[in-house]
Amino acid sequence: MTSVRLALIGAGRIGVRHLETIAQVEEADLVAVADASPTVKGIAERYGVTFYDNYKAMLAEVKPDGVIVATPTELHLAPALAALENGAHVLIEKPITGTLGEAQILIEKSRATQREVLVGHHRRYYPFVHKAREIVRSGGLGQLVAVNGQWTLRKADSYFDQVWRQKREAGPILINLIHEFDCLRYVCGEITSLSAELASTVRGHEKEETAAIILRFENGALGTFLLSDSAASPWAWEFGFHENPEFPPAHQNASRFVGDSASLEFPNLKLWRHDDTARGWNTPLRSEDKSCTPEDAYINQCKHFCRVIQGEEAPRITAEDATRSLQATLAVFDAAESGQRITL
Ligand SMILES: NC(=O)c1ccc[n+]([C@@H]2O[C@H](COP(=O)([O-])OP(=O)(O)OC[C@H]3O[C@@H](n4cnc5c(N)ncnc54)[C@H](O)[C@@H]3O)[C@@H](O)[C@H]2O)c1
Repeated sequence: MTSVRLALIGAGRIGVRHLETIAQVEEADLVAVADASPTVKGIAERYGVTFYDNYKAMLAEVKPDGVIVATPTELHLAPALAALENGAHVLIEKPITGTLGEAQILIEKSRATQREVLVGHHRRYYPFVHKAREIVRSGGLGQLVAVNGQWTLRKADSYFDQVWRQKREAGPILINLIHEFDCLRYVCGEITSLSAELASTVRGHEKEETAAIILRFENGALGTFLLSDSAASPWAWEFGFHENPEFPPAHQNASRFVGDSASLEFPNLKLWRHDDTARGWNTPLRSEDKSCTPEDAYINQCKHFCRVIQGEEAPRITAEDATRSLQATLAVFDAAESGQRITL
């Protein structure tokens, strides 16, 4: 099997996760690490590749087949464009960019260079996310009536030591809610409108801390979503299962998909239905376990990126698709600021 030559730009928190992943994927070969900060040079040495403090020099010299861009969100565009111009395919961390205008520039460059841009919405690579999508979209709940999602946890104070994380680009809407919205879109279909309220009452940073959102989906379902990065609670994706060793799991469900025949708890995939055909509230509800074997989404994502580069698979998430998740996410700011329902 020919391996795919991958380089990383931005070896911070998530960048290192990509390095750990590449090391476990047989078809991927790490060829270089670029980061503006020389303090992370040791990370490249640990993985036995050359470190560059200038990604343009790295791209010109190394000519990787694929580049993972994991710089801070407001610095996604320039390295991604440079990678495409150098003939590489790109896996860019989420959100695709900080603005819709930048995302459009990237989409156009991807078309012009005929190189793919995948976006790191890694949840799409979990088998249980697929299973939820399959159940909802195949009518396993009957008609989808409503969705209820929650992502409320308390990020450690030290997380905010880096000043960019105190700004709107790094608030829980752009950093975390975008995962939730991408997952909701993937499972339920397009979000067509939303309204929202925001608050920032605990840490006093420039960014928002808490959001309450009302959603409407194209299939007629309604949704509510509650978000906070300053609340000590177990009801968040990170605590639902053992995704990341940094976050001890509490195994609580964070979402519920509610249909006229049945309902699904998520992520544990417990399906609830009445045990009679009348589906009435006088008959008991029984639950069924629909859970599936866990897999590492980052490994699945990396393998998929390699297969896309080799022309064996179409991207599971394109730049256009990720831009719709960004558009819905950014609309939360517009809705909160205007006090209006925003149509997407
Ligand atoms: N998929 C996920 O679950 C997930 C998780 C965390 C972060 N992210 C995303 O990943 C991105 C990075 O987040 P992070 O928490 O790893 O940030 P971070 O601050 O820990 O790391 C960013 C790295 O980029 C480097 N950098 C900055 N400017 C650069 C430049 N011009 N050229 C090269 N390197 C440069 C910094 O020195 C740093 O090492 C963000 O877009 C974030 O939204 C995704």
